[in-house]
Amino acid sequence: MKRGSHCASLFYIRTEISSKNLIHLMIMNIALIGYGKMGREIEKIALKRGHSISLKIDIANMAELTVANLKDTDVAIEFTSPESAYRNYLLCFGAGVPVVSGTTGWQSKLQEIETICKKDKNGFFWASNFSLGVNLFFLINNKIAEIMNKFPEYDIAIEDIHHNNKLDAPSGTAITLAEGILKEINRKKDWVLNEFKSVQSLQIVAKRIGEVPGTHIVTYDSEVDSIEITHTAKGRRGFALGAVLAAEFMKGKTGVYGMKDLLNL
Ligand SMILES: NC(=O)c1ccc[n+]([C@@H]2O[C@H](COP(=O)([O-])OP(=O)(O)OC[C@H]3O[C@@H](n4cnc5c(N)ncnc54)[C@H](O)[C@@H]3O)[C@@H](O)[C@H]2O)c1
Repeated sequence: MKRGSHCASLFYIRTEISSKNLIHLMIMNIALIGYGKMGREIEKIALKRGHSISLKIDIANMAELTVANLKDTDVAIEFTSPESAYRNYLLCFGAGVPVVSGTTGWQSKLQEIETICKKDKNGFFWASNFSLGVNLFFLINNKIAEIMNKFPEYDIAIEDIHHNNKLDAPSGTAITLAEGILKEINRKKDWVLNEFKSVQSLQIVAKRIGEVPGTHIVTYDSEVDSIEITHTAKGRRGFALGAVLAAEFMKGKTGVYGMKDLLNL
């Protein structure tokens, strides 16, 4: 079987509760850290896939995130805020519980967490975006950037559009898109948020409006035409499913992982 087709079929088999045996093998106790929009969506999908929720932590009961309370937990899924993620990871590592996290806006400490995790043999899975579609979009973005490196007449910008309760800007997804572009396009040296600095900087424009779950647009613009690629999330279900699949992948694992490992990309 080809590598790609195995990956796609794995994703589909796992998204349906069609095989009782498969689900039985993977049943887990999941701790939910952060019981907001994502935490609630993740709970629905986890229960539907036969898992149990061993612990639910939000701001009101954050003192209950302790080694003792995590003792029956196989994996913790963390979707909180940029300020609290780092501390939550360390608490779970202290309890020997692998963490799956989608919290964004704290990535300046990503390297530090990865180093601690590897040194102490903990398990950590982080993704700026857990949806299958966005991870395919990342690959498409990288390929287009590779091609467009040869065409300096095109300027490049990224738009990140989200609901108006989002705390961080730019989005973690926009940063991953920008990193992909900066790796391929020699004429862009860094990214800037919401300002035009110089043609050497890749501009990211963050818009916060209404209830938008997440839209990302990459535009290549020249004097004569423009080329755009867009990913539009239709809701939070795709992110939540990805997070639960990542938790199933992380059961009993140590080390640092991401969507490339889960999707075999
Ligand atoms: N990676 C992805 O695919 C993805 C997708 C959607 C959202 N996100 C990110 O996930 C995070 C959460 O998103 P959301 O839409 O659920 O936000 P939200 O505001 O609806 O929920 C966050 C919850 O975390 C709680 N919280 C804050 N500090 C806490 C702490 N110390 N301990 C426990 N709970 C705490 C808040 O009270 C809130 O209920 C954000 O950083 C967002 O950008 C990532």
